[in-house]
Amino acid sequence: MNIRTSGSTVAGTCPAASKGSPGPAAGLHADDLPDGLVVADATGRITCFNAAAARITAVRPGDALGRQLESALPLEDLDGRRWWAVTDPYGGLATRTGQPERNLLLPGGRQVLVSARYVRERPGGPVTRVVVQLRGTEARRRTERSHAELIATVAHELRSPLTSVKGFTATLLAKWERFTDDQKRLMLETVDADADRVTRLIAELLDISRIDSGRLEVRRQPVDMAAAVRRHVASYTRAGMRPERFEIKVADALPPLWADPDKVDQVLGNLLENAVRHGEGVVTIEVTPALTKAHAEGTAVTVSDEGPGIPEESMARVFTRFWRGSKRGGTGLGLYIVKGIVDAHGGTITVGRAARGGAQFRFTLPVGAPAFLTQA
Ligand SMILES: Nc1ncnc2c1ncn2[C@@H]1O[C@H](COP(=O)(O)OP(=O)(O)OP(=O)(O)O)[C@@H](O)[C@H]1O
Ligand SMILES: [Mg+2]
Repeated sequence: MNIRTSGSTVAGTCPAASKGSPGPAAGLHADDLPDGLVVADATGRITCFNAAAARITAVRPGDALGRQLESALPLEDLDGRRWWAVTDPYGGLATRTGQPERNLLLPGGRQVLVSARYVRERPGGPVTRVVVQLRGTEARRRTERSHAELIATVAHELRSPLTSVKGFTATLLAKWERFTDDQKRLMLETVDADADRVTRLIAELLDISRIDSGRLEVRRQPVDMAAAVRRHVASYTRAGMRPERFEIKVADALPPLWADPDKVDQVLGNLLENAVRHGEGVVTIEVTPALTKAHAEGTAVTVSDEGPGIPEESMARVFTRFWRGSKRGGTGLGLYIVKGIVDAHGGTITVGRAARGGAQFRFTLPVGAPAFLTQA
């Protein structure tokens, strides 16, 4: 009997499968599968119980092989019903092909995701094999927990600006006549700033959902990184910041760069904003040629400041969402998005300590020229 998985022969802890099969070296070993695999023959006797199944169920393959499915794997659904009795794989309608994935319980309350396929030699014939897939629930629970945390944090972040908007508008509407023009202006300015905060937060959340689902689109165009850096610095000095706060160093010969200009702007904007808001002193921005992680040619941008820097023990966390180190922090999404954008371009980003003590962020982007240019 050969068990085929994506065209490969599954052998290993499936003694019946190794008969006449090309052997583990030529085929796929059942123990190599990331998920638990249990196979029972036409009589419900277990003929295969791989390593992942043993790990998930804490039953040793030697103890399971040769036993009946329902005694080796006494699964129950969340209402306490015996799953094998309820699903009756060998009885029931001859058109049934299996069971969709369900969350079931093993003795002792351990949760496991189970799906099954009923193999018949001919359509409508008796079930000759039941193939059961087992998956641990830990990974799924982890993502569920992280989603729940995300929703809780987002709700919290949205609530404070909205509370202020509601408070000020309600006060103004109720007591309009009692305030001076200056007081009214101050309240409206606060409402305006809070509305901006909500808008920005929502834009950031949309970016995060694109990054997390791998849907972040990169529309590559030639980008002049040095000009982009100068533009960002100019917008700070126009807004009243002293020009001495910034130092720009651009290497002479930079390789070409094809990247998404809006997203490059977002990266530079976030890093400069952080250097100004969380750092101190002169912000130095260096643009140089670089080798990317795949040893390809590319551009590197380093943003350093002279502020307190990022403590060594927090460096691993700065790129995670909602991490913020200081009270002056925003929502803690900026660097998560920056990393998502750089990754989507095939680049890298690292954090370290600047020569003069502050934080230093360095990102590299590969040339990224479209295929029709490189093949010419
Ligand atoms: N240049 C820097 N110097 C010191 N600390 C920094 C610097 N850049 C970032 N940090 C720390 O890293 C944290 C996370 O930065 P991140 O940009 O992700 O979020 P944020 O700036 O707090 O909020 P926002 O979502 O508005 O960008 C900051 O809160 C800050 O504590
Ligand atoms: Mg930031």
